[in-house]
Amino acid sequence: MRKKVTVVGAGNVGANCALRIADKELADVVLVDVVEGVPQGKGLDLLESGPVQGYDVSVTGSNDYEPTANSDIVVVTAGFPRKPGMSRDDLLMANYEVVRSATEQAVKYSPNSILIMVTNPLDAMCQAAYWVSGFTKNRVIGMAGVLDTARFRTFIAQELDVSVENVTAVVMGGHGDTMVPLVRLSGVSGIPLTELLDTATLDRLVDRARNGGAEIVKYLKTGSAYYAPSAATVEMVESILKDKKKVLPCAALLEGEYGIHGLFVGVPVKLGARGIEKIFEVKLSPEEQALLQKSAAAVHELVEVLKAKR
Ligand code: APR
Repeated sequence: MRKKVTVVGAGNVGANCALRIADKELADVVLVDVVEGVPQGKGLDLLESGPVQGYDVSVTGSNDYEPTANSDIVVVTAGFPRKPGMSRDDLLMANYEVVRSATEQAVKYSPNSILIMVTNPLDAMCQAAYWVSGFTKNRVIGMAGVLDTARFRTFIAQELDVSVENVTAVVMGGHGDTMVPLVRLSGVSGIPLTELLDTATLDRLVDRARNGGAEIVKYLKTGSAYYAPSAATVEMVESILKDKKKVLPCAALLEGEYGIHGLFVGVPVKLGARGIEKIFEVKLSPEEQALLQKSAAAVHELVEVLKAKR
């Protein structure tokens, strides 16, 4: 039987997720959006690419959730993107309402699904989806680290003029300005990054990775990034559907790991058929641990705002 993925939000990130899932023939896709006609139109357009691209999956669009029934994965991209000068946190309350209603309806029809959250502010939206869905923690996962490391890897590869495929990087923490790119654990084909680049260069690349999202917003002016975010999301979708057990940085509910309790924060996890199958606890230096705590504190602040308004 074919796998089924629902993508809520047929905007830039959502439509590109659907495109990439279809292109890789991973699953049938149902796009859901509040705007009448948009998910149907984009769904049909994607379906009509099948004969040329050579995929047989079904892609459909809907304004309600009935056609999403029994999805294996629900990707939530619904919400409002950042505008220039706006932080991810400014989006908090507006997107909370969107994510709450989207999650509520999606899980009603797909009670056994795995939720991949993409809407920002990411870590707080994961918390909202976790509350609303009542799912176990392994089935609520946030897409942030794969994107943040992809950006960091891009900049490292550019700087060294080497293949991006050989560059590995670790980014932990919340998906915001306080994210923690871990230079010590990043490298090129096993060569530690610290042996390849001087401190000033490394600091510059870390800074650029931290502000990678804002850099794109500044260019686009009317929205935020979507090609890399959709690619990152679909790497997670693929690892789950194919039970590949990739180790990827994702937002996961921590219950004591890294000394963090009851918060979604980006950490390396194993993604397989059961969702998050393992959280890897890496030994951090006191400085790294302090940066992670600072990042978790920023997530905590947002979650407290949500708790007060809930
Ligand atoms: N239910 C379903 N869809 C909704 C809802 C809702 N309650 N509210 C809004 N939407 C839809 C919009 O109609 C729009 O089509 O969500 C879509 C969002 O698409 P874009 O505005 O193009 O935003 P996008 O760039 O895709 O970003 C979506 O992902 O990366 C994050 O920060 C980004 O939070 C933002 C999200």
